[in-house]
Amino acid sequence: MRRPLVIANWKMYTSFSDAVVLSTAIRDGVENISGLEIILCPPAVWLTEIVHIIHKNINHLSLGAQNIHYMNEGEFTGEISAPMIRDIAKYVIIGHSERRKNFDEDLPIISRKVAAAIDASLSPIICVGEKKQSQGSASEVVKELKEEISDIKKEDYKNLIIAYEPVWAIGSEEPATPEYAARIITALREVVHFETPILYGGSVDAANVYKFVSRPEIDGVLVGRSGLKAKEFIKICRIVAEYKKIV
Ligand code: PGA
Repeated sequence: MRRPLVIANWKMYTSFSDAVVLSTAIRDGVENISGLEIILCPPAVWLTEIVHIIHKNINHLSLGAQNIHYMNEGEFTGEISAPMIRDIAKYVIIGHSERRKNFDEDLPIISRKVAAAIDASLSPIICVGEKKQSQGSASEVVKELKEEISDIKKEDYKNLIIAYEPVWAIGSEEPATPEYAARIITALREVVHFETPILYGGSVDAANVYKFVSRPEIDGVLVGRSGLKAKEFIKICRIVAEYKKIV
């Protein structure tokens, strides 16, 4: 049985006090929600503070980083390595489309980062998604995922989380339809371990999340904007827990 997941990517948002208030509100709001794992991915600079806030007897709430370098240490000014964050975070987002677009991250770099995360015992949250909707999207995305995980062993596939995020649906007005997302996720499932959670991401909110998580193919969601509003995010977690309840 794959575990249901809700992930919040805070991107480059929140001041120090915003981050403290938001993580505290989320911690208190999700405390009594069971049956899913919730992962907050704040800016790296707030990780060490938030780890103390969320680790108050709630083991279904964890932390992830938004990025790592593929080297463990060295002359890489401004970068953060996997060994640096492994004692604070369990997860790291790798290959988000904004990093590809704004920082020229290509598939070989992404696959090195995935391997660096695995070596440091972090679980990578690997983002995949086509830039434009087309008939061939499923095969394009499958090819992309295979390259992204080409530097790790098959036995490590169960430690991955895959986020299917069609680039055209991120930060937009309209998400992909649940049928469309489920079709691509079914194709991605062939590539990974049966225990690997595969999530949908792209314009998910509290009003539309049920459409995605009511599909058995979709194990949860990764949210951007909706993760920055405590009430909305807690509602999303509640809906996911409800739909994924083991009956
Ligand atoms: P969004 O962002 O939910 O604001 O569309 C999703 C993402 O970037 O992962």
